[in-house]
Amino acid sequence: MATTAPTGSPLSQPSLTHPPPPRKVTTVKALSESPGLSSIPSIYTFPKQTYHEPVSDTKEPIPTIDFSLLTSSHPGQRSKTIRELGKACRNWGFFMVTKHGVPERMMKAIIEVCREFFELPEEEKRGIGGKHVLDPIRFGTSFNESVDEILCWRDYVKIFQHPEFHSPKKPPSFREIALEYSKRVRLVAREIIRGISESLGLEKDYIDETLNLENGLQLIAANLYPPCPRPELAMGLPPHSDHGFLTLLIQNQIGGLQVQHKGKWVNIDPIPNSFLANIGDHIEILSNGKYKSVLHRAVVNNRDERISIAVPHGPALDAIVSPASKLVENVGNPPAYGAMKYKEYLELQQGTMLNGKSCLERIRNGD
Ligand code: OGA
Ligand code: NI
Repeated sequence: MATTAPTGSPLSQPSLTHPPPPRKVTTVKALSESPGLSSIPSIYTFPKQTYHEPVSDTKEPIPTIDFSLLTSSHPGQRSKTIRELGKACRNWGFFMVTKHGVPERMMKAIIEVCREFFELPEEEKRGIGGKHVLDPIRFGTSFNESVDEILCWRDYVKIFQHPEFHSPKKPPSFREIALEYSKRVRLVAREIIRGISESLGLEKDYIDETLNLENGLQLIAANLYPPCPRPELAMGLPPHSDHGFLTLLIQNQIGGLQVQHKGKWVNIDPIPNSFLANIGDHIEILSNGKYKSVLHRAVVNNRDERISIAVPHGPALDAIVSPASKLVENVGNPPAYGAMKYKEYLELQQGTMLNGKSCLERIRNGD
């Protein structure tokens, strides 16, 4: 458990003029490599209820969307796939994407080069990028290491790819691999978003145009989950929902992602060479709650290093997102969420500790 200063102690009220120095936290990679590590520091121990929640033994498979049919020139096939996409968004919020056309070698290359990045010396990784959610390159550990009361068993690097492309200087091949990968993935994401737009009964390009996806934010968020000697006590990432519209995730062959479905946690074992897609908070807002941005988490294990590469796609940073007027008026639903600039939402989410709740609850109307 994290220690908190007792109320009334001078430490409990940090003065505004002298904020406490930022906490120095080691990376999980360095910690996991300490010789003879057989336990974990208490600051990594999550309360029992977090990990003792039931894991479902459902045999219900997560929906799969065949991307080649979504782009098919055969109108019947396309509309059938759009209906399936709508159903996947309503029922799960998560789906696999197959036949997407991104070559397997690119998927392997991005995982490998991110692994090499995490192998760099600690001082080098710590030296790159900034600490703010809008800094184009950010390396760190946990979720927000300066505010998290309990630390997550993960290190990460987040790099803006669009509308401006950024890359760490090392490994030297990172730039080329990331540029190629993010371009290809962006095409897939935009096409899926067109399908989602249609599945909501909106114009195909409604989301794209209203929220200026031409200048939309895209990042590579690489997660490293080193083996953990006490996986039952720790969490790679506690329950959260993703900001933005659509995240496309790949991983090395090691499982760990769990998705909340019908009130239980479901283990997701992705199909090799496919993307795991999930809709984010800004589709929930835009759809006025018709599609839910679903809670998910990453658990860890004591044998294998796990790497996942999440590529979130969002509106342009300055775009203001609110429920689509057509959905609100047609159905006679009052807007369930307030309008908010995407950029401000990112800051709101980052400033909040992951507390098992979606950040969306903060902007839901009438709560
Ligand atoms: C994320 C995320 C899950 C995973 O990066 O937002 O949910 O399996 N990652 O790493
Ligand atoms: Ni996520």
